Amino acid sequence: MTKGAAKMNGKEKYRRGKRRRSSQKKEDAPKEKTVKDLLPSSPSKNPKWRKKCKYAPGPNRPSLLEKLRLRLSGGHFRMLNEKLYTCSGNEAFHFFKKEPELFDVYHAGYQEQMSRWPEQPINIIIKWLKSRSSSLVVADFGCGNASLARTIENKVFSIDLVSTDPSVIACDMSNTPLESKSVDVAVFCLSLMGINYHSYLKEANRVLKPCGWLLIAEVRSRFDPNNGGADPDKFSEAVKQLGFTLSSKDVTNKMFVLFYFKKREGAASMHKAIDWPELKPCLYKRR
Ligand SMILES: C[S@@+](CC[C@H](N)C(=O)[O-])C[C@H]1O[C@@H](n2cnc3c(N)ncnc32)[C@H](O)[C@@H]1O
Repeated sequence: MTKGAAKMNGKEKYRRGKRRRSSQKKEDAPKEKTVKDLLPSSPSKNPKWRKKCKYAPGPNRPSLLEKLRLRLSGGHFRMLNEKLYTCSGNEAFHFFKKEPELFDVYHAGYQEQMSRWPEQPINIIIKWLKSRSSSLVVADFGCGNASLARTIENKVFSIDLVSTDPSVIACDMSNTPLESKSVDVAVFCLSLMGINYHSYLKEANRVLKPCGWLLIAEVRSRFDPNNGGADPDKFSEAVKQLGFTLSSKDVTNKMFVLFYFKKREGAASMHKAIDWPELKPCLYKRR
């Protein structure tokens, strides 16, 4: 073979290779872009983007997508929270029975809100219970994630609209399966949510033993008459008429108030209608 022919063959080989590679490229080309393709590449793999963009995630900063997701779930939480404060317990029970997964959405948002509180009322209640005999039987009305039952040694009946744990009794707490006079301490920690909250207290009165305790922690603004809240004395008076005495009231916390009532021995529920003050909903602001 001449030198020229060898050169031609080399060029030809190169052209053929180029043709093959470009036709291969066409075959391998992605068919259609997915949503994932349209999103920015993972910021952790893209340091330039992270440097430029104020929304880029850092060790303590969520990404823009994460922020949008949080905002959506925050909106969902606020809607569910408002629903719980503006309907009856029975309606709330059937609402969550249809869509129990919404209960997790509510509780994720609630935990997020509570993480901003310097002190959680349930911890004060836990301290109070730990300072007494562990033989006291407790009913946690509106237990949420049932942290009370997990933290103390006592026998605890945990009650909520949805049972996220086999130990939680799912029911509307105005109508529980607990036996009458079977409980020493009834706890309502931020759970007087329904418009018929007085029927929850009547149920607590039914299941409490004589001289049993009724502990109520509620959002402070709900008992602030200067801001549309109920008069706390009017509330205490209504609970007294149900058959309790007010043992003490703790108003030292900025976020919540705590009432410690004791069931009067041999107190029969009064037949006359009790004038229950309206408790305004506790609505959380969008942040
Ligand atoms: C604000 S969360 C407080 C949860 C818990 N006690 C705590 O301190 O973390 C109120 C809880 O009461 C429950 N609840 C509201 N109305 C109820 C009802 N009628 N029957 C049973 N649970 C109810 C809600 O589902 C929610 O889990």
